[in-house]
Amino acid sequence: MATERTALFMFFGGTGDLAYRKLYPSLFNLYKKGNLRTHFAVIGTSRQTLDDDKFRAAVKKSLADSGNRADSKEASDFISHFYYQAHDVTDQAHYSVLKDAAEKLDKKYKLQGNRIFYLSMAPQFFGTIAQDLKTQGLMSTNKDAFNRLVIEKPFGRDYDSAKQLNDALSKSFKEEQIFRIDHYLGKEMIQNIEALRFGNTLVESLWNNRYIDNIQVTLSEKLGVEERASYYDNSGALRDMVQNHIMQIVSLLAMEQPVAFTDTDIRAEKVKALRSLRVYNVADAATNFVRGQYGSINDQPDYRHEDNVPHDSTTETFVAGKLLFDNYRWSGTPFYVRTGKMLADKFTRVDVVFKKPLVDIFAFPQSQSTPLAANVLTIFVEPHAGFSLQLNAKTADAGFQTEPIKLDYMVDAAKSKETPEPYERLLHDVLKGDGTNFSSWPEVSYAWKFVDQIRRVWDLQEPQFPNYTPHSMGPAAAEELIQRDHREWIYRLNK
Ligand code: BG6
Repeated sequence: MATERTALFMFFGGTGDLAYRKLYPSLFNLYKKGNLRTHFAVIGTSRQTLDDDKFRAAVKKSLADSGNRADSKEASDFISHFYYQAHDVTDQAHYSVLKDAAEKLDKKYKLQGNRIFYLSMAPQFFGTIAQDLKTQGLMSTNKDAFNRLVIEKPFGRDYDSAKQLNDALSKSFKEEQIFRIDHYLGKEMIQNIEALRFGNTLVESLWNNRYIDNIQVTLSEKLGVEERASYYDNSGALRDMVQNHIMQIVSLLAMEQPVAFTDTDIRAEKVKALRSLRVYNVADAATNFVRGQYGSINDQPDYRHEDNVPHDSTTETFVAGKLLFDNYRWSGTPFYVRTGKMLADKFTRVDVVFKKPLVDIFAFPQSQSTPLAANVLTIFVEPHAGFSLQLNAKTADAGFQTEPIKLDYMVDAAKSKETPEPYERLLHDVLKGDGTNFSSWPEVSYAWKFVDQIRRVWDLQEPQFPNYTPHSMGPAAAEELIQRDHREWIYRLNK
């Protein structure tokens, strides 16, 4: 039985693409499951002039676009909880209108003062909004009620700006009231990393530098920058994907076992892991990280000729790097990461490469056995969810040869359909007040400190761009990075 939750949602950026594509359909899923029913209301705000009816029509369309029957009674009951308020976030007078609307809805739907403020808009306004929510009295003062702030990325563009933002938020909200979204933490198989590691003796007892040779994390995208160039060109792959998603995945892979499966305990371990991540000096940053920018192919423009991209842009659309932890568990076992746009395919996977047996007893002189392959545990995050474990086994024939075989587990398609979308899970977590799958400030700050060092070095050098062909797996430098260590990427094109 689903537990019904009670809250008023206030979406800043309520007519934005994210709200229509992800947030409202996710709320509807929670409604269909009974997590939201009678005691909730939604206020959408943005600068646009709309009335409730027009807003509701747009919400209805967003439900239909995401595959729902938007003309059902259930959908129209759900939509009737939506209200619109035009709002200029820089005009304090507007907050009192919002405050009145919130109070009215609170009474109408018996919301007990519970408020969720969701910021999904231009990041330069995050700090101002958070402060005005408090000074203009929008936060509930009812002592049994909750006030929660959900904040979309980007959380700063370096450590200093992130700290400034965090300081501004902290004037109104305590750390446990702030939910920093990293939608990768809402993905089924990212959450499964903890189950796999801490639910299996077989896995966790080998999860260290004695048995693991290296770990590879790949977040590969097939599309280019699309219509987001004005944001992306100021960000680049390092800030857009490494500082947040990749660092979060790496910290889940690297952390020690939490005392208990609670947000406080898990966060404490992730922070400890990030603290032992080696922050590179200039020379090491330059050798351990490489960048790329996609060129053109056929009639497809190169990155520099995409709409809204300056023709001399030095923004990277690809990053690969090596991360090293200075702790007892991981010293000597590198984590290789890579991500980029316009690569061969859209997928996310983690490959855990185990050390080969110290002695290959099957390689006697007259043997025809192929040399033993490393055991590899692959976590498929997307598009298919599952694990695969590569072992060596005897070939099924009269001689004695070994060959790599795979034990596969794939979440079946029907079940996958029932798996909640990341945003549904994350919104549900916010309603429950569970911060497990959000980034805490210490995590964000350590991730920035690491990434800032790479950026600092890159900003001093003019890159030779473009340097990779669309639909490849990035520039040659990404191959060299790993080959230099006598290793190779487990996922390779045309392998
Ligand atoms: C976002 C980035 O955080 O993640 C985008 O800003 C990127 O540039 C996206 O395309 C990838 O997310 P997903 O869930 O499609 O892998």
